[in-house]
Amino acid sequence: MAHDRVAVYPGSFDPLTNGHVDIIERGAKLFDRIIVAILVNAGKAPLFSIKERVKILDEVFGRNTKVEIDTFDGLLVDYARKKRAHAIVRGLRAVSDFEYEMQMALMNRHLMPDVETVFMMPAEQYSYISSRLIKEVFALGGRVHGLVPDMVEARLRDKQAARV
Ligand code: PNS
Repeated sequence: MAHDRVAVYPGSFDPLTNGHVDIIERGAKLFDRIIVAILVNAGKAPLFSIKERVKILDEVFGRNTKVEIDTFDGLLVDYARKKRAHAIVRGLRAVSDFEYEMQMALMNRHLMPDVETVFMMPAEQYSYISSRLIKEVFALGGRVHGLVPDMVEARLRDKQAARV
């Protein structure tokens, strides 16, 4: 609807973690609609293709009518404008996230003053999880159960099996 409060939750989601899931669920309570926007970044060599990431998010949130899954490239603020979003949602895990996140929030505000960045903290049991650490720990034989959705864990196993 025209006056719905819309938020964009941008990121790489390579792969989706339970920390992301937690933030999306919190965002869905705060806004009428939350658009999970996966950055299409040809510069990075991702583990999961864009198609795989969209599929994972669709399977996890497909039944939640407040959550929309999309991809974007170019400037985030241009995408937010196109979607008529009121807010950009970002998760803050620790003080170490703060500097980078504050820079991005203020640059985005400079570029588009009428969109607000809203920071949310994930549940504390997810505060140390990042996609980068999940990939590293899994690749080295560590347990990631409970840190990512089950289907992400299964996909990580499939990729490992395909490599040997
Ligand atoms: O999950 P990530 O990788 O930390 O997300 C970073 C993301 C996608 C939010 C950021 O890289 C981004 O917004 N990229 C789009 C290009 C852009 O707008 N850059 C200027 C940001 S101030």
